[in-house]
Amino acid sequence: MKSSELAEVVSRISAGAKVIVVSNREPYVHERIEEGIRVVRPASGMVTALEPIVRAVGGTWIAYGGGSADRLVVDERGRIALPPDDPKFILKRVWVSRTEEKGYYQGMSNTALWPLCHIVYKRPDFSRSDWEAYKAVNRRFCEAVLEEAGTDPAIVFIQDYHFALLSRMIKDERPDIRVIQFWHIPWPNREAFRIFPWEEELLDGLLGNDILGFHIQYHCNNFLDTVGRAIESLVDYEHFRVFRGGHPTYVRPFPISVDYRQIETDISSSEVEKRRTRFLKELEGDILSTKLYVGADRIDYTKGIVERLRAFDLMLSRYPDTKTKVTMLQLAAPSRTAVAAYRKLNEELDELVDQINWRHQTEEWIPVRFLRAHHDYYAVLAACRMANVLLVTSLHDGMNLVAKEFISARTDGDGILLLSQYTGASRELADALQVNPYDLDQMADAMYAAFLMPEEERRQRMERMRNILEKNDVYRWGANIFQELERTSFLEGMS
Ligand code: F6P
Repeated sequence: MKSSELAEVVSRISAGAKVIVVSNREPYVHERIEEGIRVVRPASGMVTALEPIVRAVGGTWIAYGGGSADRLVVDERGRIALPPDDPKFILKRVWVSRTEEKGYYQGMSNTALWPLCHIVYKRPDFSRSDWEAYKAVNRRFCEAVLEEAGTDPAIVFIQDYHFALLSRMIKDERPDIRVIQFWHIPWPNREAFRIFPWEEELLDGLLGNDILGFHIQYHCNNFLDTVGRAIESLVDYEHFRVFRGGHPTYVRPFPISVDYRQIETDISSSEVEKRRTRFLKELEGDILSTKLYVGADRIDYTKGIVERLRAFDLMLSRYPDTKTKVTMLQLAAPSRTAVAAYRKLNEELDELVDQINWRHQTEEWIPVRFLRAHHDYYAVLAACRMANVLLVTSLHDGMNLVAKEFISARTDGDGILLLSQYTGASRELADALQVNPYDLDQMADAMYAAFLMPEEERRQRMERMRNILEKNDVYRWGANIFQELERTSFLEGMS
């Protein structure tokens, strides 16, 4: 779908109402550096997906201003027009104190809800003061939404698990505002969710939405089961909606995607070529004469980076013909380093990479190259293009957009995707080599199968996956969500 077609759909459905997007992470961060201020795009699947949509549709994006120079570039209401070189929308920054950030973001969002929803055997920790901070910050964002809406009709599109209480807060003040929320991470089964101490309050918050979206049907089912068990409501399985206090929330799957055509264009840009040259210089040695197994992730325990390294190690030991013929290139973006579990993971990864290299390396060959840095969009594309095999081995992932970026980037029709069966993307990308990342033996064998896979098979699989993504790009995702708002409003009119 073209971005202009999405803009038309949204403009027709919103019929003059203001469109306001809310997320925690902002699409552009202003940072202070020696030479002045630079603008950075954060490593975030949510931003990758939403930014082209908001650019196409216009409107206001409300997000937390966390950059060191964020306050310096905005007006007195915290607003700035973006993107910097060709403004298409307004970013309104909301300020959160250090203490609030600790409770709301590091605590409730990333030490409680993140592990609770992913179920990767990392125990969530709950704290009442974190919950209080979470409520206070949701309230602050609600005020920002109401200020932006003024007295006009509005459609608010909330992103993610940082704002479970926001839709209810908005509806309490302005029941006429249409509210949609997309939950970018998995929703666990009801047995897993029931340990959450403020379960009823959180679910009541989410049921303020008119539409609540998840990536896949399985997460929608889990959500309805959780609600049915935990809170007074009427669950209507026929229409997949929940009534709470007479208000319906429609629960729907919308598999998120990427800007397929833009990636197809950008892959042959000079920016991508520059990043490729930079990689080759930085890595030295002749890595291109080996098969490249590439990973590109935030350093997060849900991404299965440790498991991926262990399986790669196992492949080298079990299939000695791969030695000196393969290299694993891991782009690893530091993430949430204020949270203890993430700091521990960084240490574990350093040790593991050292061990594997010590075990297998020769004078001319280093098996694992681990580049810990924030790699921008073009660098990730360059790595996708260089890859013989892209490794996505998440232990659990709502969707995983790197997998989709890789497929979109392969205009040459070659390349293999090795994909965890526990990603949302595995539903659409059935032609990937699918693995269970907990089963290291199976993963090592799949890596070896990729090593041996003939070109014809690689191309057939790639072509089928490219056809799927060409039709289901991020504009289609956005259009589906807004069209669902139209459809459900119609249903409500009928009942
Ligand atoms: O994948 C879930 C998610 O919250 C995305 O929405 C977000 O882009 C990503 O994780 C990064 O997280 P953070 O914003 O905490 O760096």
